[in-house]
Amino acid sequence: MQLLIPVAAGVEASVKRQLNALGYGNCPAINGRISLAGSFFDVARLNVFLRSGERVLIELGAFPVTTFDELYDAAFSLPWEEFLSPHSLIRMDGKSYKSKLVAVKAAGGVVKKAIVNRLKEKLGVSSLDEKGERVIVGVSVFNDVASFTLDTSGEGLHKRGYRTLAYEAPLKETVAAAMVESSIYRAGKPFADLFCGSGTLPIEAAMYALHIAPNAKREFDFTKWKCAPEVLPRVRQEAEETRDKTTKLSLFASDISENAVSIARYHAKRAGVSEHIRFSCADMRTFSSEEKYGVILSNPPYGERLKEEDLFALYRDFGKMYRSLPDWSCYFLSGYAEAERAFGGRAQKRRKLFNANIPCGFYGYLGKPPENI
Ligand SMILES: C[S@@+](CC[C@H](N)C(=O)[O-])C[C@H]1O[C@@H](n2cnc3c(N)ncnc32)[C@H](O)[C@@H]1O
Repeated sequence: MQLLIPVAAGVEASVKRQLNALGYGNCPAINGRISLAGSFFDVARLNVFLRSGERVLIELGAFPVTTFDELYDAAFSLPWEEFLSPHSLIRMDGKSYKSKLVAVKAAGGVVKKAIVNRLKEKLGVSSLDEKGERVIVGVSVFNDVASFTLDTSGEGLHKRGYRTLAYEAPLKETVAAAMVESSIYRAGKPFADLFCGSGTLPIEAAMYALHIAPNAKREFDFTKWKCAPEVLPRVRQEAEETRDKTTKLSLFASDISENAVSIARYHAKRAGVSEHIRFSCADMRTFSSEEKYGVILSNPPYGERLKEEDLFALYRDFGKMYRSLPDWSCYFLSGYAEAERAFGGRAQKRRKLFNANIPCGFYGYLGKPPENI
């Protein structure tokens, strides 16, 4: 099967590295989706192990289309009966970009009609009751080429299951994992998130360092499809065998809000990593450490609720505090345009990332390395 992994802008390189580590090399990315060939076993592995992919889709076909008639014919020509049953609950998801067919809702309606007609013909039934397993069908028209997909994940892969309580402006788990993966943080190094909010960064860092598969415990839509063999138990077993059960990490997470800290603590417990994270309620300005060569990885506020001068002062003080730790490195994600200037200088590493569709900078300042390196 042809598999597609949609990725958020800016995290493509991280997902490719994650794919490489799982044994899937040289996967091209087209229009924000990484493409590779695979079986249902690979579908299960990708869903369970990938940290920063958004979903795992099966692409049934792609055709040039400029009219609804062409769209209907293209959809009707595909073997939906190999994946769907007379009871499938069909949900449509559409996108259009730089194409003549811009009305995505109408396009979804046309494709659904083609699928229903094809299923009736091929399965020999007069109607479909849609009372069974959910199948999200994607129609994505890009440069007048329509791609038809089935979503094996169901819920987006950022929904690991540990984050059940809301706190302000949480980071998407898939983006947080990409930040961890592209920083110099590795197991054994001290780690600090000084604006931890609901705890996403320290939790993702702990899961990464301990090789904990992010989605080993959650459910996926494809397991309910009649066409899919029972592959998930074997992949969950692999996840259990490959996680590191002996290393003890030294992660620190703090926030100025007592409420945020208690939420983060609860989430860490749910994720099974609380014994590796020390939580504290503190202003980031008070942070200091006896440990050497640590990594600060944070997502400070940048929302509209802070006044410009307060925002500038916050980043200025963050930079000042950081410079009191000369051998530490510091990475942060921020949508504040003045972040670098206020922090006190140009970052050595800089990348554009999107968090919940907000363009952000991901800045990295590298500390003094150990003498023997
Ligand atoms: C954008 S949120 C972080 C969201 C977090 N990454 C998550 O996934 O939930 C910014 C956080 O910074 C905290 N904060 C604001 N000023 C602070 C300060 N001076 N020191 C420490 N934390 C602060 C806020 O309470 C808020 O939780």
